[in-house]
Order: sequence, then structure tokens, then C-alpha cells
Amino acid sequence: MRFFIDTADLDEIREALSWGCLAGVTTNPSLYARTGGALADFEGHMLKICEMCEGLPVSVESQAKTVEDMVADGRRLAALAPNVVVKLPICAESLAATHQLASEGVRVNMTLVFTATQALLAANAGARYISPFVGRFDDIAEDGVSQLADVVACIGNDDWSGRNVDDRVEIIAASIRTPNHVTQAALLGADIATVPFGALKKCLRHPLTDQGMASFDADWAKVTSAR
Ligand code: G3P
Repeated sequence: MRFFIDTADLDEIREALSWGCLAGVTTNPSLYARTGGALADFEGHMLKICEMCEGLPVSVESQAKTVEDMVADGRRLAALAPNVVVKLPICAESLAATHQLASEGVRVNMTLVFTATQALLAANAGARYISPFVGRFDDIAEDGVSQLADVVACIGNDDWSGRNVDDRVEIIAASIRTPNHVTQAALLGADIATVPFGALKKCLRHPLTDQGMASFDADWAKVTSAR
């Protein structure tokens, strides 16, 4: 399973890229709003992320509401940089827009997916990526991981060859909050987990690792000070 970072913050992306284990970026309107950016700067900001990521896929979400506007927006966003993936929320309009955009070679990440049936519709419409949300189920006292399991199993039952644009469909486990969400997504066979920077840092650290490094340092100090 690969890691994407779920943020629009340039510093977070830069630092996560420096780790050498990042395969892409996902953004959404809330994450962009959190940067304090204005509408006029939106496309420039997304372009900066695309350039920093040097070819890695960067999901940029459209706020269009009609099929026509989604298609037009999708074309415009895709023209920003070759690594743009157009992100659309699952609904009747976005299925139609995905079908059209996919036929033109534009990759779509279908977001706000909560059920296997939504995922199946998105895959059949031609979505390149499907983003089932995990944490938001947990927020309402439901089990996000078991919902993700249904999506992974249903999408995995088909090889999706012969679709209108791209034979591949990949599942991005989204709305990830904890290292355990990441582990469970990998165990289930999700292709990608998109992880906020805070949770990514939690994935890296373990108290036993910290203790081990401290004791190795202490013992090595004995070695270097021995005559
Ligand atoms: O980018 C979509 C998703 O990952 C959002 O997560 O934490 O707002 O539920 P969250």
C-alpha cells in the first residue's frame, strides 16, 4: 500500500516528500481553506503542489454542481499540470461527468464514498481512484474499517478491464485518523492510504524505538569514551 498525504499545506507536503515515501497528495476544499488561501490563489496554489510533487498524482477538488460545470472545471483543472487528478464527490452528476472526463483521459478521484455500492458506481463510470472514508464513520460510532473492507472486496472482485479510459481503479483509504486505520487499510488490500501529516508522524514514531535509540546512544557513548 502506498502513502498519499491529505493536506494542502506546502510545508507539510515538503517535509513529507523529504521522507522519500510519498506517492501523491490529496486536497479538498476544507484543507485549502485551512491554508488561509483565497479563491483567486486556488489554482496557483494547486499548481505549486503539482510542481513540488514532480509527477506524483495530486487530487484537486471541483466545487461545480452540474454535469456541464464539472466537465468544464475538470478539463480546466486537468490542464493545470499533467499530474492533476480531478476530485469529484459521488452523486449522479459526478458519475456522468466522470464518464465524460475519463473518456477524454482525465483521471478522476471519486470522493465522499461511504458504501460499496457508491464505489461500484464510481468504478463503472470510469473513476481512476475511489476514496472511501474511514474516520467519519468512526465519528458517528460506526465501524469505518469494516465499511472499507466491503469496498475493497467488491472492487477487488472485478479487474475493471475494458472500461472507457483506464483499466485501473485504485482504492484510496481516506479520512484516516490513526496509525491503526493505516494498518487496517493495508491489511484489507487498499492500494493507497491518504493520511494527514499529524497521523503520518504518529505512524513513524514508537516509544520503544525512542527508548531503543536512547539506550544505543548511551551505550555507544561508553564505547567512544573507553580508553
Ligand atoms: O480528503 C478527504 C478525507 O481524507 C477527509 O478526511 O478527516 O476530513 O474526514 P476527514
